[in-house]
Amino acid sequence: MHGAFSENDLSDVIAADKAHVWHHLVQHKPFETSDPRIIVEGKGMRVWDQNGKEWLDAVSGAVWTVNVGYGRESIAKAVYDQVLKMNYFAQAAGSVPGALFAEKLIEKMPGMSRVYYVNSGSEANEKAFKLIRQIAHKKYGGKKTKILYRERDYHGSTLATMSAGGQDERNAQYGPFAPDFVRVPHCMEYRKHELGPELAALSGREFGIACANEIEKVILREGPETVGALCLEPVTAGGGVIEAPEGYWDRVQEICKQYQVLLHIDEVVCGVGRTGTWFGYQHYGIQPDFVTMAKGVASGYAAIACLVTTEEVFDMFKDDATDPMNYFRDISTFGGCTAGPAAALENMRIIEDENLLENCIAMGERMNANLKALMEKHEVIGDVRGKGLFQGCELVTDRTTKDPVPEAKAQAVVAECGKHGVIIGVTNRSIPGRNNTLCFSPALIATADDIDQITDAVDKALTAVFG
Ligand SMILES: Cc1ncc(COP(=O)(O)O)c(C=O)c1O
Repeated sequence: MHGAFSENDLSDVIAADKAHVWHHLVQHKPFETSDPRIIVEGKGMRVWDQNGKEWLDAVSGAVWTVNVGYGRESIAKAVYDQVLKMNYFAQAAGSVPGALFAEKLIEKMPGMSRVYYVNSGSEANEKAFKLIRQIAHKKYGGKKTKILYRERDYHGSTLATMSAGGQDERNAQYGPFAPDFVRVPHCMEYRKHELGPELAALSGREFGIACANEIEKVILREGPETVGALCLEPVTAGGGVIEAPEGYWDRVQEICKQYQVLLHIDEVVCGVGRTGTWFGYQHYGIQPDFVTMAKGVASGYAAIACLVTTEEVFDMFKDDATDPMNYFRDISTFGGCTAGPAAALENMRIIEDENLLENCIAMGERMNANLKALMEKHEVIGDVRGKGLFQGCELVTDRTTKDPVPEAKAQAVVAECGKHGVIIGVTNRSIPGRNNTLCFSPALIATADDIDQITDAVDKALTAVFG
């Protein structure tokens, strides 16, 4: 154990939490008779709770965030030094770490050029939507306001981002939503039988191209003159860890060019190393117009999210300086906090100096192979998929029909892993009847032993729940 917290009595903390804290995504009734988990300390891949119990964290802070692991003194120091010198000034002015991180980030994103700082993934996506709408007004006479999004993708918790939300269960009870967000079908080959007989008959590259063509059909149905942008996750995260099939991205890029539809890639999860490249879209050779990122940008050491655009987009907002409305009339108060870019700079240095992208690929392959090996023993594993240290394992009652296991059973696997001291994730309350994918996203520092410990726990948990 690290630190001295175990000597302290945390009962006051627990009482205060139970009395006053509203946790996210949690039904609180059980806390009337039990305690919430309070994470007190972290080091590397491991965290400790209020009882001193050690956990191996296979999900980087539960939501794919702590990419460089816990307890990084150099990030804490960079933030300390920066906030003492200059903690905040609104973004109409610049900051030293803001300028330096923007430069460093753009080095990793050929073709992109401008960075807009905000606080959360949802906010970054909202800003992109606002830019797309403003472009529609500036350039297309108020047309091209529609934003396409994909079934199963998620872009945030605010009302506009939920309007672009492809997860009906997550959206339930929060409507009505904003107009002019239009859904396109998912492109998940494992569940192609749910997409109708034409698509179900295809596979591999043919299936990928056909799925992209479904986007074109939506554009033509809506009228290309009304469609401003397409927003996609590079690898769908909370919707089930879904990588698009071969052929998909090339065709998507072609379609966007053909109909002057801006391409917005939501890298909130995949950005900054999670899949083994700096950004998920870089696996596929595409050139987006907007890239949003959040979680791994500073590994949770400070709240920072970024919206990155091309110089072409940026130019549209400065072409006529005599027009008083002709700039991005947007503000993000806490986008001016310097802790974020200070932490992000150090986070990026660590990833480079410790070769964490390479480690991510090697350990991702190991995790994928371990999970695939478990398929021999556990019939309940229908599919194993993912990219880098972002892996998913879909549980089904029958490999032929691919009927999903009930959500409660998938959650029981998570609880069983907990008994072995390993925190894993599962898709939850997202897609009706399809919350059956176990999720793994350990920090990019994971070792072979860590990976084996995680998959051993999954092995035992599957035996305990399914026999
Ligand atoms: C792909 C994706 N986009 C956006 C978001 C929203 O980010 P935030 O919770 O920081 O607002 C999330 C959060 O999980 C996400 O997974």
